[in-house]
Amino acid sequence: MPKHKLGLGILVSGEGSNLQAILEAIAKGELKAAVKIVISDRPDALALERAKDFGVPCICLPPSNYPDRKTHEQNLVKKLEEFQVDLLVLAGYRRLLTSTLIEPFRNRIMNIHPSLLPSFKGLNAQRQAIEYGVKNSGCTVHFVEEDVDEGPIIAQAAVPVLSDDSVEGLTKRILQKEHQIYPLAIQWFSEDRIRVEGRKVIVERMPQEM
Ligand code: GRF
Repeated sequence: MPKHKLGLGILVSGEGSNLQAILEAIAKGELKAAVKIVISDRPDALALERAKDFGVPCICLPPSNYPDRKTHEQNLVKKLEEFQVDLLVLAGYRRLLTSTLIEPFRNRIMNIHPSLLPSFKGLNAQRQAIEYGVKNSGCTVHFVEEDVDEGPIIAQAAVPVLSDDSVEGLTKRILQKEHQIYPLAIQWFSEDRIRVEGRKVIVERMPQEM
C-alpha cells in the first residue's frame, strides 16, 4: 500500500454521479484519496464536465481511435501508470474489461453494480429486479475479474422494491445508496483494511453495525 495519498483513476462513460459522490467525499475530507485522472470512452460523457468542475485531469480515449480492444486497453494501462494510479475505479464505465487491463491492476479495480449480486448481473439490473418481483434490491461494490459482475464483494446496501416501482424510481433510490457505499469502500481500501481471501473480502476493524 502506498505511503502517499491513494491515487485513483476513474473510468466513466456517462452521467458520472458516482464520480461526483467520490469527488465530494474527498472535498469533505471523508475520503482520503486523490483523483489522479478521469478517463471516458465517450467524448460527450457528462462525467467529463463534472471532473473539470472539480479541476481534476480528464481525458477521452475513444476505442474507435485504436485498431482493436487490446491496443485500447494497453493505452489505458499506460495512461493510468503515467498518472500513478493505485486503485482503478469503474464508475458507470460501459465497457467490458479483459486481462490486458485487469492483470496489471489485479485486486486493485473496483466496480459498482446496481443490484445485490449475484442477482441481476449485466445490463438493466433495476428492470430485471422489478420484473422478477423481488422485494429488495440494492447495489454492490466488488473487485473486478474477467467474468462480468463476478469478483469478490466488498460492500452492499439494500433498498426496498415497491409494488408500483418504476425503473426510474428504483434507479434513483439505488443511486442514493451507491453514492454512500462507493466512497466508503474506497476509504477502506485507502486505510489498507481490505483483504481478499478467495471469494471473500475481509474488511478489518469493521464496526459491529455494518
Ligand atoms: C450506476 O447505476 C452504477 O451502478 C452502474 O452504472 C451507473 C453509473 O451511474 N455501474 P453514474 O454514471 O455514476 O451516474
